Amino acid sequence: MSVIILGIESSCDDTSAAILKDGGILSNVTANQEAHKQYGGVVPEVASRAHQQNIIPVVDWAIKKAGVSKSEINAIAFTRGPGLMGSLLVGVSFAKALSIGLDIPMVEVNHMQAHVLAHFAENPKPKFPFLCLTVSGGHTQIVRIKDYLDMEVLGTTIDDAAGEAFDKTGKLLGLDYPAGPLIDKLARKGEAKFKFAEPNLPNLDFSFSGLKTSILYFLKKEIKTNPDFIQENLEDICASVQQAIINALMIKLIKAAEETGIKEIAVAGGVSANSGLREAIQKEGEKRGWKTYVPRIEFCTDNAAMIAVTGYHKYLKGEFVGQDITPLARWKI
Ligand code: KG4
Ligand code: ZN
Repeated sequence: MSVIILGIESSCDDTSAAILKDGGILSNVTANQEAHKQYGGVVPEVASRAHQQNIIPVVDWAIKKAGVSKSEINAIAFTRGPGLMGSLLVGVSFAKALSIGLDIPMVEVNHMQAHVLAHFAENPKPKFPFLCLTVSGGHTQIVRIKDYLDMEVLGTTIDDAAGEAFDKTGKLLGLDYPAGPLIDKLARKGEAKFKFAEPNLPNLDFSFSGLKTSILYFLKKEIKTNPDFIQENLEDICASVQQAIINALMIKLIKAAEETGIKEIAVAGGVSANSGLREAIQKEGEKRGWKTYVPRIEFCTDNAAMIAVTGYHKYLKGEFVGQDITPLARWKI
């Protein structure tokens, strides 16, 4: 008999629903929230309200697009955390109500575990054990994956996430939120000719706050002598910032690969949409004999397909949760 899972994601500012049948994605529908642009970052209150508005149409559309009927769904997988409490509450409450309505079980999913398992939403799939660099607006981690639900965090950021480094720098440059994709676009036309302070942690942990401060002081100094410095050098500044962030990520990824001897290397999370990072991983992979896995952009940024994939593996193990479940703003892998 087939297993059909409905996945629901609402941890930050994207409302997403997906249908997975026997491990294959039939639909993955995401509503992005434009409202945060004007504030220069995600406003939790605005995000929860938008989830509330979007969740029913998004779930409806995902089910229609998949060509299944509600009565065929075997279980609902939802993001329990980590994320914004108000945003998570919308998804969790919706999952509970639908689970009662359809009389089917619920499966809780850790958003960070799901980013890693997004690699199983399409082919080719990584082989165990593999390493995954998960880089998003909220997290930066290197994870060793022994099996679908057996993961170990080898390194994490001690301050800002890589996506935050992009977004906060973008704010300094007067770019709209989220600045990551814009910096990526501008960087393609620029030259990485400016150098910034490099993080210097001995282990596999990351730090981006020093880089942000270094960029801030660099800009202040240059603007003193040329008030139009940013406008005149925007593409080169973006290329330099992007290069600095990529270098910081690649140094640790290479170190992790060397220390573990693992050559199956994956990258996940919103920042893995970055063209420079994709190129760097590809290039380094060819040099070092890695087999690299970079998901389609739709599966890199927040999406419910990854929630459904993770939910499917928990479903197969019979890992269900009850109606008393509550969201977790913080939740380690
Ligand atoms: O995974 P995600 O969609 O949401 C979180 O869980 O955080 O990641 C969003 C982050 C934002 O910081 C955004 O600026 C960044 O991913 N991002 C990018 C690119 N596309 C998205 N950063 C750099 N280059 C990109 N092309
Ligand atoms: Zn995410």
